[in-house]
Amino acid sequence: MSKQRAKLVVGNWKMHGRLAGNTALLQAVAQGAGALPDDVRVGVCVPCPYLAQAQALLDGSRVVWGVQDVSAYTEGAYTGEVAAPMAVDFGASLAIVGHSERRAYHRESAELVAVKTQRVLEAGLTPIVCVGETLEEREAGKTEQVVGVQLDEVLAKLSSEEAARIVVAYEPVWAIGTGKSATAQQAQQVHAFLRARLVAKGAPDVALLYGGSVKPENAEELFRQPDIDGGLIGGASLKDQDFLAICKAAGAVSVTQ
Ligand code: PGA
Repeated sequence: MSKQRAKLVVGNWKMHGRLAGNTALLQAVAQGAGALPDDVRVGVCVPCPYLAQAQALLDGSRVVWGVQDVSAYTEGAYTGEVAAPMAVDFGASLAIVGHSERRAYHRESAELVAVKTQRVLEAGLTPIVCVGETLEEREAGKTEQVVGVQLDEVLAKLSSEEAARIVVAYEPVWAIGTGKSATAQQAQQVHAFLRARLVAKGAPDVALLYGGSVKPENAEELFRQPDIDGGLIGGASLKDQDFLAICKAAGAVSVTQ
């Protein structure tokens, strides 16, 4: 029997949002999250300029906030970069690292993602380490090989105590923003594979999120899978009703229900 873990649903706004519209979205999410079961945790990862706004509107609510990337350095002459401790200054507790858009468009290597994960942990934030295969890799039967290498590169740099503090998001690249989610069975299969890696590292209870076209309609079935502990939500996190419906789906399958 697999162990029941608390659910975690995190919004990844990507490069969306403007000051005025964010207010209504953040307020609605903060309010809606208040009605969720205790073991459903909710977070939003906003563009850095809106961290202060997230802090002002979410402080004291059930919703935590964070960033979508951090620098591999703590400070210095790195124009345009944002260091993990800077996010901490604004009350952040989450940082996504290794999102496939960073890996693809900014040529982030598995090694760089591992270093960023270390910086995030040093700053006291929770890294959400993203892994996932392209369609080409899946069709070539390389899914486990690809996500295995992506995860192993990170785990190799961490102690088991540090590994226990990360969150991992499985996000098949072909499912991101395409409307075509992995099936619950496809996702569970990869999650079970990742879980085995984490168990071997001595970090069996790491939250394993699924991401890639999660919507109110498919969230519950995904979250019912034994190794899916929640979701990393892109497009649907920009609409309060959709995002909250996904959070409610996590509540419907949570331990306390
Ligand atoms: P999506 O994005 O939900 O819009 O597919 C997920 C992600 O990239 O984190």
